Amino acid sequence: LKLGIMASGSGSNFEAVAQAIDDKQLNAQIQVLIYNNPAAKAASRAAKRGIETVLLNHREYKNREVFDQKIVQTLREYDVEWLILAGWMRVVTSVLIDAFPDRIINIHPSLLPSFKGIHAVEQALKAGVKITGCTVHLVRLEVDSGPILMQAAVPILPDDTAETLHARIQVQEHRILPQAIALAAQANLITHVSVSGIG
Ligand code: GRF
Repeated sequence: LKLGIMASGSGSNFEAVAQAIDDKQLNAQIQVLIYNNPAAKAASRAAKRGIETVLLNHREYKNREVFDQKIVQTLREYDVEWLILAGWMRVVTSVLIDAFPDRIINIHPSLLPSFKGIHAVEQALKAGVKITGCTVHLVRLEVDSGPILMQAAVPILPDDTAETLHARIQVQEHRILPQAIALAAQANLITHVSVSGIG
């Protein structure tokens, strides 16, 4: 399984995937980490592991489509099969989605379809729900929608702040993201086998 990972921030989910591969829990390799924010800690995490990194700064492209074209070109250069959005804080367009049909995976810090968009953890706190969590799903054009692969529930405690709650959600993210990647890859393989079986 040849993975490309895209991250904008701390990259703890990137790290979790890399670690699962090292621990042989996930049979894959990370071909490249693409990051859009020069300060992203994800880049130094990748460098430490000897994983190739490419900085693509969205501010240098005239619109989302042109930016996504550059991303697709880069992913092709690195021979990427599956794309993981691990804290990628840009809205993606059909340019990217159509280039990797059913092969783009996103992680979101809520139990979708609740609390889509940014500040999902704050949204959950504000809504007063007692349980939230995280979702790994296939990416569709509409933000934070698409077939759900895995979810994990996290209770909201009375003293929770956005930081304490997000930290507990991330523990679950790091657990389910590698599992969901394996699951998606397996399911995809089965679909392909049965389709070619019919033909
Ligand atoms: C995660 O909480 C993820 O659900 C959201 O962005 C955050 C990224 O965290 N999409 P990290 O950069 O992987 O630490």
